Amino acid sequence: MNVTHPVIAPSLLSADFSKLPEELSIVDPSLDWLHCDVMDNHFVPNFTFGPIVIAAARKLTRATLDVHLMMERPWGMVDEFRKAGADVITVHLEACPQTREVLRQIRESGAKAGLSLKPGTPWHAISPYLPDLDLLLVMTVEPGFGGQAFMPDMMEKVEAAHRERAARGLDFVIEVDGGINVDTVKVARGAGADVFVAGHSVFRAPSPGAALSALREAVAR
Ligand code: DX5
Ligand code: ZN
Repeated sequence: MNVTHPVIAPSLLSADFSKLPEELSIVDPSLDWLHCDVMDNHFVPNFTFGPIVIAAARKLTRATLDVHLMMERPWGMVDEFRKAGADVITVHLEACPQTREVLRQIRESGAKAGLSLKPGTPWHAISPYLPDLDLLLVMTVEPGFGGQAFMPDMMEKVEAAHRERAARGLDFVIEVDGGINVDTVKVARGAGADVFVAGHSVFRAPSPGAALSALREAVAR
């Protein structure tokens, strides 16, 4: 899987759920991807939403639904998320001892398979799985909450991913998640990322539509 241009993926987590149709219609006219954070209060100390909300988002946008599963035992729910409308399903390496099997299951469901690593997980732990992936999600904050500060140290992983992708002739997409704003988006782009999740910097901005445009301009420069 690849993307032809840098993609900004607004994160639903930071939207106002009491007016989801309006929130999405503001960013939707040109929306490429929408990032959806699923949390189970086990893998991370927070709880968000499941397939019902993904299905609602599916009705509100034609964007690629990029579903980030921050949950234990995600394999039990893959087909449910796919049925709800997920286009990309990303699981965490730390939650999947049978990593290759889960990635295969995601692909068999018809979705693209993503794998993510927490800031504390070293690069060498994920490197063997690169040929099995459509997307690699490098966390640039500790997963669990929006609005945290970007961790520049994680750029080493993005650079390693970019390097190994070229050296091994692979075609997974490199995504970063956490603390992305008009400054950090350039840092992550410079390191080699393709998709940039942005929660607070889009949906908590006075004008989410303008904020999305500003991020797109910043990453293109
Ligand atoms: C954090 C989530 C992120 C979050 C990013 O655990 O995975 O997707 O929504 O939010 P910001 O962009 O506000 O850091
Ligand atoms: Zn996320």
